[in-house]
Amino acid sequence: MALPLGAEDRSAVPQIRYLDGSTAATPLGAWRSGAEVAAAARPLQVAGREPIPTAGILAALSIALDLTEGQLPGHALRTCFIASRVADILGLPRVDRSALFFAAFLKDAGCSTNAAAVSRIFGVDDIELKRNQATIGRSTLAYAAFTIRNLPSAEPIPVRLRRLIRIGLEGPRERRLLEQARCERGADIARNAGFGSDVSTAILDLHEHWDGGGEPRGLKGSAIDPLARVLTACAGLDVFLSTHGREPALRVLRERRGSWYEPQVVNAIVLGAERGLLDELAAPGLSARTLALEPDDGQRSSDEDDIDRIASAFADIVDAKSPFTGSHSQRVAALAESLATRLGVPVADAVDVRRAGLLHDIGKLGVPNTILDKPGALTEAEFEQIRRHPELTRRILAPITRFDRVAELGASHHERLDGLGYFRGLTAPELSTGARIVAVADVFEALTADRPYRSAMPRERALAIVVEETGDHLAADVVSALRDVV
Ligand SMILES: [Fe+2]
Ligand SMILES: [Fe+2]
Repeated sequence: MALPLGAEDRSAVPQIRYLDGSTAATPLGAWRSGAEVAAAARPLQVAGREPIPTAGILAALSIALDLTEGQLPGHALRTCFIASRVADILGLPRVDRSALFFAAFLKDAGCSTNAAAVSRIFGVDDIELKRNQATIGRSTLAYAAFTIRNLPSAEPIPVRLRRLIRIGLEGPRERRLLEQARCERGADIARNAGFGSDVSTAILDLHEHWDGGGEPRGLKGSAIDPLARVLTACAGLDVFLSTHGREPALRVLRERRGSWYEPQVVNAIVLGAERGLLDELAAPGLSARTLALEPDDGQRSSDEDDIDRIASAFADIVDAKSPFTGSHSQRVAALAESLATRLGVPVADAVDVRRAGLLHDIGKLGVPNTILDKPGALTEAEFEQIRRHPELTRRILAPITRFDRVAELGASHHERLDGLGYFRGLTAPELSTGARIVAVADVFEALTADRPYRSAMPRERALAIVVEETGDHLAADVVSALRDVV
């Protein structure tokens, strides 16, 4: 069985089941935390390495969340900048400003949890849908107009009509469930990444509205977490700045003052705008200027354990994007580390291999679920989008201090020894042992994992397929180590 250009075998994929009532399973049930998956084994560590700034790691990884939400890359960073300035104006205590600063980067950590369901319910590209949804009002009329505009235009009219009726009947309930899943998972992920309840609560309450009209709990006024109240208005400002420009963005904020957003926070944003906040936001070098706003006597830094915690949390975000990926990234990481150890790779390299395993598919957060979950062969145009994900992985990871090799390994997981892989068509001499290990772990895991649509392929059968791929695609010594390890 040949696996050209990658590991995914979609030939046996039956209908996926979602919240739409037609069948039972949901993508929400497919999610398992990385902490649970990785709990059995403590990963290898390199002793004596200096901690690195946490904000720099989150600023880079948050780009993946922006992509999933259909926002311009840097949305989380810009939200962080706005929120930090607004916190100054509001006179928030230092401890709150610190939590707000990190919550801004992680506010969309739950974004991938509802991507598959959203895509399935509407039948369209979830990323585009989320981009459009970010600017609509919350009235029934606004939502109805949004729904009609976003139904799949290629679908026959009777099918579209059925979809519309179903969304009309089930929409509010489903929306609340999806928001709940998104907010709760986002908060869980922040906790798993090593942040406290101040950060996770801000994420949990992010979509609540000042007047009680938000989701999922309909909290009102001071019952909403104070940091969430700041964050939601600042994020809203950035979304409208990107889509509509300055004056309309400020107008929307004023219109939503006292309904969506806390009046005092809107006042602070308007005051900030009068003092030049939006000019500062648009000026060059925003990334460095935002990181310099971290409110603390010393920067928060991440040691090796912290880095693994954050990488593992983002692996969970990646795996939650599609019901086809269960705990794929966590398992690839564990297998890749075992293979590296078996092959006698130095510990520092094995650590990079494991982290590359955790994050190799982070670029998939920029690929719509209509493609990731498609139960059949991809068109050429769709495959082009799939081919982009290792490149996106490299772009997201490369700016992180100490992740230059991780970025390179992650970017190479769909390359083949014969040069027919993607995205660069690298050949055997260009593929390091680490890259070869991640590629084997990725293929084997994809074949043997329990997935929502089928149970795990027996190891013997998967191993036989991997052996068949040896030589042109996968490296013989790594496949040999795989036999020993599994
Ligand atoms: Fe991949
Ligand atoms: Fe993968």
